[in-house]
Amino acid sequence: MTPLRRVLLVFGTRPEAIKMAPVIQQLQRSASRFEAIVAVTGQHREMLDQVLSLYGLAPDLDLDLMRHGQRPEEVLAQAVTGIGAAIRDLKPDAVLVQGDTTTTLAGALASFYEHVPIGHIEAGLRSDDKHAPFPEEVNRRLTTQVADMHFAPTAHARDRLLAEGVPAADVYVTGNTAVDALLAAAGIPNTPADERLASLAGGKGRFVLVTAHRRENWGVPMEAICSAVLDVLAAFDDLVVVFPVHRNPVVRDVVNRVLGANERVLLTEPLDYLTFLGMMRSATLIMSDSGGVQEEAPSLDVPVLVLRETTERPEALETGAIRLVGTTREGITRGALEVLGDPALYRRMAEAANPFGDGHAAERIVAVLEERLG
Ligand code: UD1
Ligand code: UDP
Repeated sequence: MTPLRRVLLVFGTRPEAIKMAPVIQQLQRSASRFEAIVAVTGQHREMLDQVLSLYGLAPDLDLDLMRHGQRPEEVLAQAVTGIGAAIRDLKPDAVLVQGDTTTTLAGALASFYEHVPIGHIEAGLRSDDKHAPFPEEVNRRLTTQVADMHFAPTAHARDRLLAEGVPAADVYVTGNTAVDALLAAAGIPNTPADERLASLAGGKGRFVLVTAHRRENWGVPMEAICSAVLDVLAAFDDLVVVFPVHRNPVVRDVVNRVLGANERVLLTEPLDYLTFLGMMRSATLIMSDSGGVQEEAPSLDVPVLVLRETTERPEALETGAIRLVGTTREGITRGALEVLGDPALYRRMAEAANPFGDGHAAERIVAVLEERLG
């Protein structure tokens, strides 16, 4: 009988948890060959716990690191040390990390120090600007340096890795597990608990869904994003805005100050994943600086205006599902007025296909683990 292979999955933030969940579930379906162990850093707390509870995931280890106003280097130092100790204790055959957060880099470095093979899910995304997204572009580049198996979501991401000299035999095009999670969630019925959200999700009224949290957007860009929201509302009488506000206090201060008093802006706590997907699906337009939202919205047929100067997801620019509108008040407002005022452009964006996956990424990742660890 083949011995069980122990796989340690390390994550710590909301988006990592959502994108890791399909891989955990796939490993659990292969329980005769794999033992899946979950270690969370707790880089996020409430926003991570929302996802853990949705999937009924009880981590085997929780470092519970989050502190308000934490700096990435503080999280990194504690997470590398904590994950390193966990690896020595648990002796996994491989460690999986996802994406580009501080936890991702910490998990990869800790495994490197312990000489344990590292699989990097969502490898090969590049903006070519080390300050945007900050510090994620550097996190994923450094993770590439120490990873042994690179799970690229698209052919484009694979080509970026090959161009940097990563051996072709270590790169696998799998699709993004975000699409696996989204397609699985689409089958779960959900009505928002909040009556106003339920009414909008039920088709009563046009609304723009907004999210913003990126560190490089703190300060002037975040003010501009909020002011642009007011400009867009002023241009369309019937429109309202739903803005689930990230828990970061730096983000909350600006959003509450600029938008808190406007009756047509509905500021909410971070929404649970199913409710958020429901709101995305019913939105007229999405304006966001999120990475995950750019990957999900094309499957939900809603155009996205990306509140950034650059994106590491050019595939969706090419299909036309997203548009980069930058981070100035004028640029964002102009972008929104163009899409909302041009039905043909709107339809082209909404109907663009999702280039990020087909819902089977986790199966491909686990198949590679079978081959590599077998
Ligand atoms: C992190 C990731 C970013 C990802 C984002 C997803 C890094 C460097 N950045 O950014 O890639 O897009 O998460 O949301 O890893 N907070 C809470 N409760 C929570 C979560 C956050 O109160 O559940 C507050 C805390 O005050 C915390 C702060 O938000 O200190 C910042 O959290 P942190 O994880 O450091 O950075 P993000 O900006 O959220
Ligand atoms: N999301 C959520 N609730 C919200 C906002 C976002 O569940 O209120 C989900 C969203 O569907 C996506 C992920 O969180 O799967 C994106 O997280 P975030 O924007 O925080 O991080 P990023 O993707 O930019 O790293």
